Amino acid sequence: MIKRPIIIDTDPGIDDAVAIAVALFSEELDVKLITTVSGNVSLDKVTYNAMCLLKYFGKEEIPVAAGASKPLLREVIDASDIHGKTGMEGFDFDEPDMSKLLKEHAIDAMRKVILESNEKVTIVPIGPLTNIALLIRTYPEVMENIEELVIMGGSTGRGNAGVMAEFNFYADPEAAKIVMKSGLKISITPLDVGLKALVLPEDSEQIKLMNKTGEMFYSLFKRYRGGSFSTGLKMYDSCAIAYLLKPEMFETAFTFVDIETKGELTYGCSVVDLRGYLKEEPNATVCIDVDAQMFRDWLMDRIRNCN
Ligand code: BDR
Ligand code: CA
Repeated sequence: MIKRPIIIDTDPGIDDAVAIAVALFSEELDVKLITTVSGNVSLDKVTYNAMCLLKYFGKEEIPVAAGASKPLLREVIDASDIHGKTGMEGFDFDEPDMSKLLKEHAIDAMRKVILESNEKVTIVPIGPLTNIALLIRTYPEVMENIEELVIMGGSTGRGNAGVMAEFNFYADPEAAKIVMKSGLKISITPLDVGLKALVLPEDSEQIKLMNKTGEMFYSLFKRYRGGSFSTGLKMYDSCAIAYLLKPEMFETAFTFVDIETKGELTYGCSVVDLRGYLKEEPNATVCIDVDAQMFRDWLMDRIRNCN
Protein backbone atom coordinates (compact mmCIF):
# COMPACT_ATOMS: atom_id res chain seq x y z
CA MET A 1 0.00 0.00 0.00
CA ILE A 2 1.27 3.47 -0.86
CA LYS A 3 1.11 5.52 2.28
CA ARG A 4 -0.05 9.10 1.99
CA PRO A 5 2.71 11.45 3.16
CA ILE A 6 1.46 14.01 5.66
CA ILE A 7 2.72 16.77 7.93
CA ILE A 8 0.70 17.50 11.08
CA ASP A 9 0.82 21.12 12.24
CA THR A 10 -0.51 21.11 15.78
CA ASP A 11 -0.86 22.68 19.25
CA PRO A 12 -1.36 19.72 21.61
CA GLY A 13 -3.91 20.03 23.15
CA ILE A 14 -5.94 17.01 24.31
CA ASP A 15 -7.98 16.54 21.12
CA ASP A 16 -4.75 17.10 19.15
CA ALA A 17 -3.20 14.21 21.10
CA VAL A 18 -5.97 11.88 19.95
CA ALA A 19 -5.66 13.02 16.32
CA ILE A 20 -1.88 12.56 16.41
CA ALA A 21 -2.17 9.04 17.85
CA VAL A 22 -4.73 7.98 15.27
CA ALA A 23 -2.57 9.34 12.44
CA LEU A 24 0.63 7.73 13.74
CA PHE A 25 -0.95 4.30 14.00
CA SER A 26 -2.81 4.43 10.67
CA GLU A 27 -1.07 2.34 8.07
CA GLU A 28 -2.56 4.47 5.27
CA LEU A 29 -0.56 7.48 6.46
CA ASP A 30 3.13 8.29 6.58
CA VAL A 31 3.62 11.07 9.13
CA LYS A 32 6.79 12.73 7.84
CA LEU A 33 6.95 15.60 10.30
CA ILE A 34 5.12 17.18 13.21
CA THR A 35 5.29 20.95 13.52
CA THR A 36 4.05 22.97 16.46
CA VAL A 37 2.42 26.36 16.78
CA SER A 38 1.32 28.56 19.66
CA GLY A 39 -2.37 27.90 20.24
CA ASN A 40 -3.99 25.92 23.01
CA VAL A 41 -1.02 26.90 25.19
CA SER A 42 2.35 28.55 24.50
CA LEU A 43 4.77 27.28 21.87
CA ASP A 44 7.25 25.81 24.39
CA LYS A 45 4.47 23.87 26.10
CA VAL A 46 2.84 22.48 22.94
CA THR A 47 6.26 21.49 21.59
CA TYR A 48 7.10 19.70 24.84
CA ASN A 49 3.70 17.97 24.66
CA ALA A 50 4.31 16.78 21.09
CA MET A 51 7.64 15.31 22.16
CA CYS A 52 5.99 13.64 25.19
CA LEU A 53 3.41 12.01 22.93
CA LEU A 54 6.00 10.64 20.50
CA LYS A 55 8.00 9.18 23.36
CA TYR A 56 4.89 7.63 24.87
CA PHE A 57 3.92 6.07 21.53
CA GLY A 58 7.49 4.82 20.91
CA LYS A 59 7.66 6.94 17.75
CA GLU A 60 10.55 9.25 18.58
CA GLU A 61 11.98 8.76 15.10
CA ILE A 62 9.33 11.15 13.77
CA PRO A 63 10.87 14.63 13.60
CA VAL A 64 9.33 17.57 15.42
CA ALA A 65 10.02 21.22 14.61
CA ALA A 66 8.76 24.21 16.57
CA GLY A 67 7.19 27.08 14.66
CA ALA A 68 5.54 30.38 15.49
CA SER A 69 5.34 31.54 19.09
CA LYS A 70 2.96 34.38 18.19
CA PRO A 71 0.19 35.06 15.69
CA LEU A 72 0.99 37.33 12.71
CA LEU A 73 -0.76 40.45 13.99
CA ARG A 74 -3.04 39.90 16.93
CA GLU A 75 -2.02 39.33 20.54
CA VAL A 76 -1.64 35.75 21.77
CA ILE A 77 -4.68 33.96 23.16
CA ASP A 78 -4.84 30.44 24.54
CA ALA A 79 -7.31 27.71 25.44
CA SER A 80 -5.86 26.61 28.77
CA ASP A 81 -9.39 26.72 30.19
CA ILE A 82 -10.17 23.75 27.93
CA HIS A 83 -6.88 21.79 27.96
CA GLY A 84 -5.41 22.79 31.34
CA LYS A 85 -2.39 24.97 32.02
CA THR A 86 0.10 22.47 30.57
CA GLY A 87 -2.10 21.95 27.50
CA MET A 88 -2.41 18.23 28.24
CA GLU A 89 -3.43 18.26 31.88
CA GLY A 90 -4.29 15.01 33.61
CA PHE A 91 -1.45 12.65 32.75
CA ASP A 92 2.17 12.56 33.93
CA PHE A 93 4.33 11.89 30.90
CA ASP A 94 7.98 10.82 31.13
CA GLU A 95 10.44 13.57 30.21
CA PRO A 96 11.13 13.44 26.49
CA ASP A 97 14.61 13.92 25.08
CA MET A 98 14.31 17.53 23.94
CA SER A 99 17.67 17.35 22.18
CA LYS A 100 15.79 15.42 19.47
CA LEU A 101 13.77 18.53 18.60
CA LEU A 102 14.88 19.81 15.19
CA LYS A 103 16.98 22.95 15.38
CA GLU A 104 15.31 24.47 12.33
CA HIS A 105 12.09 26.46 12.38
CA ALA A 106 8.92 24.57 11.45
CA ILE A 107 8.62 26.34 8.09
CA ASP A 108 12.18 25.35 7.10
CA ALA A 109 11.55 21.76 8.15
CA MET A 110 8.27 21.73 6.20
CA ARG A 111 9.93 23.19 3.13
CA LYS A 112 12.56 20.47 3.17
CA VAL A 113 10.10 17.61 3.61
CA ILE A 114 7.78 18.97 0.89
CA LEU A 115 10.49 19.65 -1.69
CA GLU A 116 12.24 16.33 -1.07
CA SER A 117 9.10 14.22 -1.32
CA ASN A 118 8.51 12.24 -4.52
CA GLU A 119 4.81 12.43 -3.90
CA LYS A 120 2.82 15.54 -3.10
CA VAL A 121 2.50 16.10 0.63
CA THR A 122 -0.75 16.71 2.49
CA ILE A 123 -0.61 19.12 5.42
CA VAL A 124 -3.05 18.66 8.29
CA PRO A 125 -3.22 21.88 10.33
CA ILE A 126 -5.10 21.31 13.59
CA GLY A 127 -4.01 24.49 15.37
CA PRO A 128 -3.91 28.19 14.40
CA LEU A 129 -2.70 28.72 10.82
CA THR A 130 0.34 30.91 11.59
CA ASN A 131 2.95 28.40 10.40
CA ILE A 132 1.08 27.61 7.20
CA ALA A 133 0.69 31.29 6.29
CA LEU A 134 4.39 31.90 6.98
CA LEU A 135 5.35 28.84 4.93
CA ILE A 136 3.47 29.83 1.79
CA ARG A 137 4.51 33.47 2.02
CA THR A 138 8.18 32.68 2.66
CA TYR A 139 8.56 29.66 0.40
CA PRO A 140 5.87 29.83 -2.32
CA GLU A 141 7.82 27.21 -4.29
CA VAL A 142 6.48 24.52 -1.91
CA MET A 143 2.93 25.03 -3.13
CA GLU A 144 3.45 22.94 -6.23
CA ASN A 145 4.27 19.89 -4.16
CA ILE A 146 1.44 20.26 -1.64
CA GLU A 147 -1.41 17.87 -2.37
CA GLU A 148 -3.95 19.44 -0.06
CA LEU A 149 -4.51 21.17 3.27
CA VAL A 150 -6.97 19.36 5.51
CA ILE A 151 -7.73 21.93 8.18
CA MET A 152 -9.60 21.78 11.47
CA GLY A 153 -10.89 25.30 11.93
CA GLY A 154 -13.68 27.78 11.39
CA SER A 155 -17.40 27.34 11.60
CA THR A 156 -20.36 27.69 9.26
CA GLY A 157 -22.36 29.13 12.13
CA ARG A 158 -21.44 30.38 15.55
CA GLY A 159 -18.14 30.14 17.39
CA ASN A 160 -16.51 28.58 20.41
CA ALA A 161 -13.89 31.27 21.11
CA GLY A 162 -16.13 34.25 20.39
CA VAL A 163 -19.76 34.71 19.40
CA MET A 164 -18.95 33.93 15.77
CA ALA A 165 -15.33 32.73 15.80
CA GLU A 166 -13.87 29.27 16.18
CA PHE A 167 -10.65 29.04 18.24
CA ASN A 168 -8.06 28.05 15.58
CA PHE A 169 -9.11 30.82 13.19
CA TYR A 170 -9.72 33.35 15.98
CA ALA A 171 -6.22 32.73 17.35
CA ASP A 172 -4.73 34.01 14.07
CA PRO A 173 -7.35 35.42 11.68
CA GLU A 174 -4.83 37.10 9.36
CA ALA A 175 -2.98 33.80 8.89
CA ALA A 176 -6.26 32.02 8.20
CA LYS A 177 -7.10 34.65 5.58
CA ILE A 178 -3.73 34.20 3.82
CA VAL A 179 -4.26 30.44 3.75
CA MET A 180 -7.79 30.68 2.40
CA LYS A 181 -6.60 32.96 -0.39
CA SER A 182 -3.55 30.81 -1.25
CA GLY A 183 -5.13 28.90 -4.13
CA LEU A 184 -4.12 25.58 -2.55
CA LYS A 185 -6.59 22.73 -2.50
CA ILE A 186 -8.29 23.07 0.89
CA SER A 187 -10.66 20.88 2.86
CA ILE A 188 -12.04 21.98 6.19
CA THR A 189 -13.57 20.08 9.08
CA PRO A 190 -15.07 23.02 10.99
CA LEU A 191 -16.56 23.38 14.44
CA ASP A 192 -19.96 22.19 13.19
CA VAL A 193 -18.74 18.62 12.71
CA GLY A 194 -16.41 18.76 15.72
CA LEU A 195 -19.40 19.43 17.96
CA LYS A 196 -20.95 16.16 16.80
CA ALA A 197 -17.76 14.08 16.86
CA LEU A 198 -18.22 12.92 20.44
CA VAL A 199 -16.67 10.37 22.75
CA LEU A 200 -19.41 9.34 25.19
CA PRO A 201 -18.76 8.12 28.76
CA GLU A 202 -19.29 4.48 27.81
CA ASP A 203 -16.71 4.91 25.02
CA SER A 204 -14.19 6.40 27.46
CA GLU A 205 -14.63 3.40 29.77
CA GLN A 206 -13.84 1.06 26.85
CA ILE A 207 -10.96 3.20 25.62
CA LYS A 208 -9.35 3.04 29.07
CA LEU A 209 -9.10 -0.74 28.80
CA MET A 210 -7.98 -0.93 25.16
CA ASN A 211 -4.24 -0.36 25.49
CA LYS A 212 -1.55 1.95 26.85
CA THR A 213 -2.73 4.80 24.61
CA GLY A 214 -6.30 4.33 25.82
CA GLU A 215 -5.21 4.46 29.47
CA MET A 216 -3.47 7.78 28.86
CA PHE A 217 -6.43 9.20 26.93
CA TYR A 218 -8.77 8.27 29.77
CA SER A 219 -6.71 10.35 32.21
CA LEU A 220 -6.63 13.30 29.81
CA PHE A 221 -10.36 12.98 29.10
CA LYS A 222 -11.12 13.38 32.80
CA ARG A 223 -9.57 16.86 32.63
CA TYR A 224 -10.60 17.89 29.11
CA ARG A 225 -13.23 20.63 28.97
CA GLY A 226 -14.06 20.39 25.26
CA GLY A 227 -17.57 19.26 26.08
CA SER A 228 -17.96 17.21 29.22
CA PHE A 229 -17.06 13.67 30.23
CA SER A 230 -20.69 12.87 31.02
CA THR A 231 -22.39 14.39 27.97
CA GLY A 232 -19.66 13.81 25.38
CA LEU A 233 -16.13 15.02 24.64
CA LYS A 234 -15.54 16.87 21.40
CA MET A 235 -12.89 15.33 19.19
CA TYR A 236 -12.47 18.33 16.87
CA ASP A 237 -9.00 17.56 15.56
CA SER A 238 -9.62 13.88 14.88
CA CYS A 239 -12.24 15.00 12.35
CA ALA A 240 -9.43 16.16 10.04
CA ILE A 241 -7.81 12.72 10.19
CA ALA A 242 -11.22 11.07 9.78
CA TYR A 243 -11.84 13.14 6.67
CA LEU A 244 -8.51 11.99 5.23
CA LEU A 245 -9.18 8.34 5.94
CA LYS A 246 -12.95 7.97 5.67
CA PRO A 247 -14.44 10.95 3.84
CA GLU A 248 -17.73 9.11 3.30
CA MET A 249 -18.73 9.82 6.89
CA PHE A 250 -18.99 13.54 6.06
CA GLU A 251 -21.43 15.61 4.04
CA THR A 252 -19.52 18.35 2.23
CA ALA A 253 -20.05 21.56 0.25
CA PHE A 254 -17.57 23.04 -2.22
CA THR A 255 -17.87 26.71 -1.47
CA PHE A 256 -16.22 30.09 -0.93
CA VAL A 257 -14.68 30.78 2.48
CA ASP A 258 -13.10 34.01 3.70
CA ILE A 259 -12.06 35.24 7.12
CA GLU A 260 -13.30 38.43 8.75
CA THR A 261 -10.29 40.46 9.89
CA LYS A 262 -11.90 43.88 10.28
CA GLY A 263 -15.19 43.23 12.04
CA GLU A 264 -15.61 44.92 15.38
CA LEU A 265 -17.75 42.09 16.73
CA THR A 266 -16.87 39.32 14.30
CA TYR A 267 -13.05 39.36 14.14
CA GLY A 268 -11.77 35.88 13.25
CA CYS A 269 -15.12 34.64 12.01
CA SER A 270 -15.07 32.34 8.98
CA VAL A 271 -17.55 33.49 6.35
CA VAL A 272 -18.69 30.30 4.63
CA ASP A 273 -20.78 31.43 1.66
CA LEU A 274 -22.96 28.35 1.28
CA ARG A 275 -25.56 30.25 -0.74
CA GLY A 276 -23.19 32.09 -3.06
CA TYR A 277 -24.10 35.63 -2.01
CA LEU A 278 -20.56 36.88 -2.61
CA LYS A 279 -20.36 35.55 -6.18
CA GLU A 280 -16.81 34.29 -5.59
CA GLU A 281 -15.25 31.10 -6.91
CA PRO A 282 -15.32 28.23 -4.38
CA ASN A 283 -11.97 27.78 -2.62
CA ALA A 284 -12.67 25.00 -0.11
CA THR A 285 -14.49 21.77 0.49
CA VAL A 286 -16.24 22.29 3.82
CA CYS A 287 -17.64 19.44 5.88
CA ILE A 288 -21.10 20.50 6.94
CA ASP A 289 -22.25 17.31 8.65
CA VAL A 290 -20.87 14.05 9.99
CA ASP A 291 -22.44 10.68 10.68
CA ALA A 292 -21.81 10.78 14.43
CA GLN A 293 -22.27 7.05 14.96
CA MET A 294 -19.88 6.21 12.10
CA PHE A 295 -17.33 8.61 13.57
CA ARG A 296 -17.61 7.02 17.03
CA ASP A 297 -17.17 3.52 15.65
CA TRP A 298 -14.29 4.66 13.47
CA LEU A 299 -12.49 6.41 16.33
CA MET A 300 -12.89 3.45 18.69
CA ASP A 301 -11.45 1.14 16.03
CA ARG A 302 -8.55 3.46 15.42
CA ILE A 303 -7.71 3.83 19.12
CA ARG A 304 -7.89 0.05 19.47
CA ASN A 305 -5.27 -0.07 16.74
CA CYS A 306 -2.80 2.05 18.78
CA ASN A 307 -0.14 0.67 21.12
C1 BDR B 1 -9.87 23.73 18.11
O1 BDR B 1 -9.41 24.56 19.17
C2 BDR B 1 -8.53 23.85 19.99
O2 BDR B 1 -8.77 24.11 21.36
C3 BDR B 1 -8.68 22.39 19.66
O3 BDR B 1 -7.47 21.69 19.84
C4 BDR B 1 -9.13 22.40 18.23
O4 BDR B 1 -8.03 22.39 17.35
C5 BDR B 1 -11.38 23.60 18.23
O5 BDR B 1 -11.99 24.85 18.07
CA1 CA C 1 -5.78 21.79 18.08
